[in-house]
Amino acid sequence: MNLTVIGTGYVGLVSGTCFAEMGNNVTCIDIDQKKIDGLKNGIIPIYEPGLEAIVKRNVAGKTLHFSTSLENHLENCDIAFIAVGTPMGEDGSADLQYVLQVARQIGAHMTTPLIIVDKSTVPVGTADKVHEAIANELDKRGESIPFTVVSNPEFLKEGDAISDFMKPDRVVIGSDNPDATKKMRALYAPFFRSSMDRLITMDVRSAEMTKYVANAMLATKISFMNEVANICELVGADVNKVRIGIGSDSRIGYSFIYPGSGYGGSCFPKDVKALKKTAMQHGYQPQLIEAVEDVNDRQKLVVANKIIAKYGEDLSGKVFAVWGLSFKPETDDMREAPSIYIINELVKRGATVKAYDPKAIEEAKHFYLKDTPNITYYSSKYEAISEANAMILLTEWKEFRSPDFHEIKKQLVEPVIFDGRNQYNDEILGEMGFEYYQIGKTR
Ligand code: UGA
Repeated sequence: MNLTVIGTGYVGLVSGTCFAEMGNNVTCIDIDQKKIDGLKNGIIPIYEPGLEAIVKRNVAGKTLHFSTSLENHLENCDIAFIAVGTPMGEDGSADLQYVLQVARQIGAHMTTPLIIVDKSTVPVGTADKVHEAIANELDKRGESIPFTVVSNPEFLKEGDAISDFMKPDRVVIGSDNPDATKKMRALYAPFFRSSMDRLITMDVRSAEMTKYVANAMLATKISFMNEVANICELVGADVNKVRIGIGSDSRIGYSFIYPGSGYGGSCFPKDVKALKKTAMQHGYQPQLIEAVEDVNDRQKLVVANKIIAKYGEDLSGKVFAVWGLSFKPETDDMREAPSIYIINELVKRGATVKAYDPKAIEEAKHFYLKDTPNITYYSSKYEAISEANAMILLTEWKEFRSPDFHEIKKQLVEPVIFDGRNQYNDEILGEMGFEYYQIGKTR
């Protein structure tokens, strides 16, 4: 099929590239000329394992194209995907200005019948707004070209984006038009070779809702476990054991019940807020969803509070080594990362921070911690801990999983570790003389 994907962020770029890999002819559009020029030369604007090779292969094979002009890529296009950003508006709702702008452009330039797909995460009712925006533009032109708007939310995870897209748990297609449904099913069929059961079709509004509910449910699991962890500390239980104890019940399951420093990233914080806002706009006070958010806000400072409990309110003269800045491993993304909150809290209290992350240092330096004083960045984890009072682990990158603890002990002023991701064995660290603080277990 001929596909046009508008927006080359995480969702747009990965979707477009994977559709091309499956044999479609894809053009990815973005208004950012520099980004498009880079992509044409195989320069990927984000760090995502495996993406670069597939982009390069499909650009060379002429199945993947990049352009800044939407006008020229709607003719003979079977399906146009809207995959532009939906940032959080000031009131917490999803800001639809970019989605609607693209919809208007489509209406202004389409020449042949078209399926338009909302791939961005958008609140219930957005497909109707997109439909209206396109219809208005066609009216202005005095044209009546048939089109239909479909919801096809994306469930990929950063860091696993390629395998999530190529081997999805499910694909949700929300369509009120049987012909469009048929075409969308045909597009996704190659991704489900053994069974089509997980290619789920439903009405548009249910599909739009599914995306928010999936993320809110996962965020709820995390906040629930973080709350359990805090209670475990008070009653002398070990959340690591409780987690295994409950996960073994297949109704609960092991995934997404790892306590930590709170969820971050571009999706959970934004989508939980947007779902709350949608409920409130319809006169419903979503108590559980509100609590999920409140627990998460509080959790982001749990590690800082443990540090304050040990060293006191005034941290002047103290030096802390931070391992991990990105909101999770295998990404340079720092949006809503707990590290931002924790580091700013420490620095505000007079501490100095020495930071190391395998991929996110540039993001930290130039954007997320650019105004934070008293922070220095290092190119190796052991350099960062030298002469520090304690090491703080904030992202569970693989290279932090089994470090040389003898080296850590040698480099630190005192053998103290604050672990915001419960990565280490406390018995072994205890035997080695470490003071080891983790989430959900008293020392
Ligand atoms: C999330 C969803 O997992 C994807 O399915 C969805 O498509 C995506 O949002 C989106 O809406 O675009 P992502 O934000 O990339 O994906 O990251 P996750 O791997 O889900 O992690 C989110 C946060 O939860 C991270 O901060 C992670 O550290 C935290 N987390 C995750 C925990 O604290 N505990 C866990 O057990 C699991």
